[in-house]
Amino acid sequence: MAAISLLAMASKGPLVASFSLATRRAAVSASSSTSMTKLFMSTDTDAAPSEAPPQLKTRTRRILSGVQPTGSLHLGNYLGAIRQWVNFQDEECEPVIDEEKGLKIVTENYFCVVDLHAITMPHDPTELEESTLASAALYLAAGIDPAKSKVFVQSHVPAHSELSWLLNCATPMNWLERMIQYKDKSSKAGAESVGVGLFTYPILMAADILLYQADRVPVGEDQRQHLELARDIVRRFTDLYNKGGAFKKRCKKAGIPSFNTFTEPEAMIVKEGGARVMSLSDGTNKMSKSEPNDNSRINVLDPPKVIRNKIKKCKTDEFVGLEWGNPDRPESTNLLTIYSAVQPKPKTKEEILAEVGHMSWGEFKPVLADAIIAHLEPIQTRYKEIREDETYLKEVLKEGSDSANEIASKTLNSAKVAMGFVARA
Ligand code: TYM
Repeated sequence: MAAISLLAMASKGPLVASFSLATRRAAVSASSSTSMTKLFMSTDTDAAPSEAPPQLKTRTRRILSGVQPTGSLHLGNYLGAIRQWVNFQDEECEPVIDEEKGLKIVTENYFCVVDLHAITMPHDPTELEESTLASAALYLAAGIDPAKSKVFVQSHVPAHSELSWLLNCATPMNWLERMIQYKDKSSKAGAESVGVGLFTYPILMAADILLYQADRVPVGEDQRQHLELARDIVRRFTDLYNKGGAFKKRCKKAGIPSFNTFTEPEAMIVKEGGARVMSLSDGTNKMSKSEPNDNSRINVLDPPKVIRNKIKKCKTDEFVGLEWGNPDRPESTNLLTIYSAVQPKPKTKEEILAEVGHMSWGEFKPVLADAIIAHLEPIQTRYKEIREDETYLKEVLKEGSDSANEIASKTLNSAKVAMGFVARA
């Protein structure tokens, strides 16, 4: 991403002079600061050799996202979210220098397994434990690197639940009543099994994001409305609690700066191939974990035989050949999108059509199944290795939650000061 747009994003983030980082992160930062110096030196050729370089302030830009550990993660979760996290983590790990503003912009990535969200629908405790660990292992298997990104379990950071309560009390009911996902899930589940948690869940999601002052939130298209809600909550909180002399006095007394408590987050949504992966049994519905029919989705851990079978059974149409974007052929668009997204190297739509556009469904289906299997195979192999070393997995999660707790508890404290809570003696 161009430095310019990074700077635009970072301009909203909090200024942080320094922050404590765990060992691996320190190693990454150390190597990053070397390249930062090189960058600085190379653009400062006119300066006299004895002239001291100007001091750069560090601005931290944070990325946060998460997936619910409900059942198995599917291709939609992977293509719409996790793969994007990996790309971002790998492309944006070097700091960016804005010499004009005297800023060094450092990116930190936080990816959590949002287990508190998984209990908003009736759940099985044994399954929750297994799918929480499985989800964390899948993040790593898909390419999340603990040296560059923190991985943690949401319930290991108590500030999520606490901030969620504070924000519950600052959010009007009718904002939640508008949430499409709530309307959708509650109408399917029936009144008796809809808990209050399902209704207030977008507020917990806002808390997840706001605790980390996250600038950018990489998600699939279906989360756009929740991100908008999080932004509305920030604006409302700022208006209610971050204004006036009394706020400043409280901050001074607490020994914290009187900045706005939260940063407005922005959704990062993949443009091509994966923002909205559709169901295999109905190309007009999104692929979803909550759909009872397992044949409607490809799970990232499905064995090759199962994938072949699901693709064989998936819904098609009566037309001959394949095409993109015909509103009467949602399955054709969806399956071509999946095929394109799992290619080892990016291909244009024209290239994809030249390759498979002329095929009948009977010819295309095995080609599609092979491409999905080939793409998922290395992830599945790495997943098995990680699951065999639970000590490693738990260490990664511990390191992630230690780091997350440090940041989250600071934001929670600022929110409490802003709202007027008495500090603990
Ligand atoms: P969840 O668990 O339903 O989905 C996790 C991520 O996968 C994306 N996704 C899809 N993308 C493309 N096509 C699909 N069919 C598809 N299905 C799911 C979602 O957009 C999401 O990015 N509320 C969130 C989890 C959450 C969260 C957060 C996300 C909780 N707190 C904070 C970001 C930041 C959810 O239920 O996602």
